[in-house]
Amino acid sequence: MTKIITIDGPSGSGKGTISQRLANHFGWHFLDSGALYRLLGLAVNRQGIGYDEVARVVEIAETMSVEFVGERVLLEGDDVTDTIRTETAGNNASKVAAIPQVRAALLAWQHDYAKPPGLVADGRDMGSVVFPDAMLKVFLTASAEERAKRRYKQLKEKGLDVNVRELTVEIKERDQRDMNRSVAPLVAAEGALVLDSTSLSIEEVLNLVLQEAGKRL
Ligand code: DC
Repeated sequence: MTKIITIDGPSGSGKGTISQRLANHFGWHFLDSGALYRLLGLAVNRQGIGYDEVARVVEIAETMSVEFVGERVLLEGDDVTDTIRTETAGNNASKVAAIPQVRAALLAWQHDYAKPPGLVADGRDMGSVVFPDAMLKVFLTASAEERAKRRYKQLKEKGLDVNVRELTVEIKERDQRDMNRSVAPLVAAEGALVLDSTSLSIEEVLNLVLQEAGKRL
């Protein structure tokens, strides 16, 4: 059976960095499930479809052409690596992600990532819904203010024009939407190791997760 570690948590908790580092450490596959929702949000926008047109949104989820080429992400052959990382793209992702039929449509796609020797899956419902039998489930969180500060730094480094106060408001809004939706809400999976990274460094979080993984490998 493929070994799977799931890392779930809110935006800015550090789960992307931790997941990528873990996947590199073990030489395992990596699933950035948020990217799939971000890509879908963008594809829907580009086609001028409303998020309430569920059947059409699902059709796009089932047919859109996505390629991961090294660090780059292509949507219908177009390089959208930076476009899907904006706050607007994150908010649009969170809107399509609230549609139950969309989540169902993306399930098989996500399951395909579970291949030997192992998988690190990053998202909101990786441990609770998509990979409930994962060997280790982590729920990584941090205060909204700390997460906004981290996002601010990341986006600034990319040369994007952002404001920390607006980011905090957006992060809180997105948390509310992700936590209160009817399907697969953002919650710690049963049996998850809950880590609050507010005052921990990336290395400290990584070490705690590696320690826990070591007990189960
Ligand atoms: O992790 P992220 O910020 O790239 O995710 C963008 C949005 O996608 C997030 O606000 C909620 C949604 N999402 C989800 O509902 N389930 C996942 N497994 C991953 C992301």
